[in-house]
Amino acid sequence: MLDMHAATRTPTPIRREDYRPPDWLVPAISLDFDLDPARTVVRARLEVTRNGAHDRPLVLDGAGQQPLAVRVDGREVNDWRQQDGGLVVPLAGEAHVIETEVEIAPETNTQLMGLYASGGLLCTQCEAEGFRRITFFPDRPDVLATYTVRMTADRETFPVLLANGNRTGAGLLDDGRHWAEWHDPFPKPCYLFALVAGDLQANVGGFTTMSGRQVELAIWVREADLPKTEHAMSALKAAMAWDEQTYGREYDLDLFNIVAVADFNFGAMENKSLNIFNSRYVLADPDTATDADYDAIAAVVAHEYFHNWSGNRVTCRDWFQLSLKEGFTVFRDQGFSADQGSPAVKRIEDVRSLRASQFPEDAGPLAHPIRPESYLEISNFYTATIYNKGAEVIRMMATILGPRSFRAGADHYFMRHDGEAATCEDFVRAMEFGAGVDLSQFRLWYSQAGTPRVAARLTADPGGGRATLNLAQSIPSTPGQPDKQPMVIPLRLRLFAWGSGAAIGEEQLVLLDTPEKTIVFEGVGERPVLSINRGFSAPVIVEADRTAADLAFLSRHDDDPFARYEAMQQLMLDTLIERVSTGEADHGPVVAAVADTLADPALDRAFVGEAVLLPSESFIGDGMLVVDPEAIHAAREALRRDLGRKLESEWRAALADGADAPFALTPEAKGRRRLRGIALGYVAASEAKDGGAIAFRQFERADNMTDRMAGLVTLVNLAADEREAALDIFYNRYSDDALVIDKWFSAQALATRDGTLDEVIALAKHRDFTLANPNRARALIGAFGVNQRIFHAASGRGYAFYADQLLALDRLNPQTAAKLLPPLGRWRRFDEDRAALMRDQLRRIVDTPGVSKDLFEQASKSLE
Ligand code: ARG
Ligand code: ZN
Repeated sequence: MLDMHAATRTPTPIRREDYRPPDWLVPAISLDFDLDPARTVVRARLEVTRNGAHDRPLVLDGAGQQPLAVRVDGREVNDWRQQDGGLVVPLAGEAHVIETEVEIAPETNTQLMGLYASGGLLCTQCEAEGFRRITFFPDRPDVLATYTVRMTADRETFPVLLANGNRTGAGLLDDGRHWAEWHDPFPKPCYLFALVAGDLQANVGGFTTMSGRQVELAIWVREADLPKTEHAMSALKAAMAWDEQTYGREYDLDLFNIVAVADFNFGAMENKSLNIFNSRYVLADPDTATDADYDAIAAVVAHEYFHNWSGNRVTCRDWFQLSLKEGFTVFRDQGFSADQGSPAVKRIEDVRSLRASQFPEDAGPLAHPIRPESYLEISNFYTATIYNKGAEVIRMMATILGPRSFRAGADHYFMRHDGEAATCEDFVRAMEFGAGVDLSQFRLWYSQAGTPRVAARLTADPGGGRATLNLAQSIPSTPGQPDKQPMVIPLRLRLFAWGSGAAIGEEQLVLLDTPEKTIVFEGVGERPVLSINRGFSAPVIVEADRTAADLAFLSRHDDDPFARYEAMQQLMLDTLIERVSTGEADHGPVVAAVADTLADPALDRAFVGEAVLLPSESFIGDGMLVVDPEAIHAAREALRRDLGRKLESEWRAALADGADAPFALTPEAKGRRRLRGIALGYVAASEAKDGGAIAFRQFERADNMTDRMAGLVTLVNLAADEREAALDIFYNRYSDDALVIDKWFSAQALATRDGTLDEVIALAKHRDFTLANPNRARALIGAFGVNQRIFHAASGRGYAFYADQLLALDRLNPQTAAKLLPPLGRWRRFDEDRAALMRDQLRRIVDTPGVSKDLFEQASKSLE
């Protein structure tokens, strides 16, 4: 059953301020699953206790299932009633045993929430509110129970039966069935419950914790995929060691399982000791996974593992506290990845993705604070704001407190709240206590939405030996928050001397906590150049009055790698925006800065790759009052062509660098491949006659997916003859590998050449396209939605096609459909004609009878 929203009945929002502790607690639950894809019987036995003095009945959440039986203390009762899909049971005493029985049909569960079937196996997804689709239960994260789970299933179809905790028993039954029983000693909220049944094989490993506990690690996949699990296994071991060293956190059970499934609504899920993953974040080998895939696998494996403490041992009181576990855990996984490779490149990648997804969210109709005040559907709040801005907020605390105090605060948090369902406020208090600081004003980061802007003006008086920096902050209004108070903005900054390029004094950490602030620098002999928000110390937009010459200077001399990258980006951005608005721009400073960066032997190749990459078309658009997709595309292509031509020999040299070395996954080899891919794009952009041939040769000869994909992506954007050939070769070679075919769809949906719109519309009818698999839907429709030039085709055909797809997807999987809505909601940033066409589609979605609450919330908020 879909969660239908009747267009006439406006759903009521859930508000943070309405939080009340649960009326009934459930210290223990036993579940008995008679598993079958068409008809699974679930028997639940809940031990419930009254929480406080009240006479309210027991209310259990439910969704879509009918109670076949309800027993209280062993006796069948009939004074219960159904309410909003759930169950209301009057109870007289302080403690009772409630038993229910329901039937569910995993194979018809297209929402992929609760118990569902995927590629022949049965698995669960319960966060946020999927458990209520399995059995009747108080489905809220502050009700913590110990779980005992018995599963019975056909032995041949489902030889492996897994649940949380340890296996406590197993046996054969006649009639070809078998059973297993699992027990998890750690009380947990039901969103962390999981089971898996299927024909799976495990890559088994081991880890000895710092106190000597032997932990068995198992990564479960289909037999054919076993060779692709090594990278995930070594990432898991590295993550376990890192959390011990960095946070003093040790694993707490004897078993840790990961299962890969093909149909999954997001990345992965941290169920206690039974993590379930989207297979794209588990499976890798050089022939099918790019370097970016390898990195993402390590990051997600670490993220889910780190949740064992930041999420499971200490969980969330209610879903408004989601960033408590997600922001902190993203911060932790970012730290892990930084330590595994290049911290500078990792920081650049994280900031790029923050700017690509979170900044637009914070500037649009769906803006919300990292701790929201209300929602219609909690699934819509698994956002870049909660995750990525949430991580930036933790990072700012770490920057302000310093590493020792931050660690003391984290230790205190884990100790004080172990076994509890905590709040964001608990976290901030633990930091204050551990570090002995006052974070009162800093708390505004939890309640105020919107990306702050910081204006910076440096005036120098070299004769007098000093310079004055004026800083001013402003926070744009966001939905429901017209007026903002000044925040605490930690800005790492430093001055450099124009003549020598040497630093003037040490780096400073300035806390901008008033609307304006003036900082005076002494001992400034030469003209100073300002390096500000170094390391991206605050998630803000800095508007510093720096000339192209200043930026070019910083791109060569700044000693903070992020600031160096940033100076280059700003120089490129200023140049591109100049060209978009006036039709011309001097490309000279960008070309010279890129040439110098390419020539600097001290820089690692991965960094160089990041630094010479032009800002994306949508990021350029974000810097403009009214986005002109065609002009942006033209300006960016013109600069790409110029860079390609003027630096042709440099790009060709970068292309040859390491091209014949056999595949290795070292940071050096990855850096070279990254730069090679970018160089290939520039050679093609130069319109050199052999561009298509070079790309095709790289595509054909590559011994790894990174190089092959770079060739394909380049060809897809060319009119070259090689284009169709490469697409066919790629498709035929990988036709039975869904994760690679996803790349084939994405590459085409992301092409910015003319004709892409028709191709995408045709691809939606391709025999391999299906909306039922979220990865496939995102590969085509999701990629298309972020392709600025093509999605925003002036005809509006892109918008109409997109809305068609979202509505079709909504009937299967509301959560995944709603996630894709935001591109349609950005109409305020576009010209009137486009804005009207976008609003037409939003209205059409809102007015569709039976549209889900998920999609309705996103679309209706986008119209406001
Ligand atoms: N907790 C999971 C993670 O680690 C994601 C769960 C997403 N749930 C959802 N309803 N979107 O990131
Ligand atoms: Zn998470």
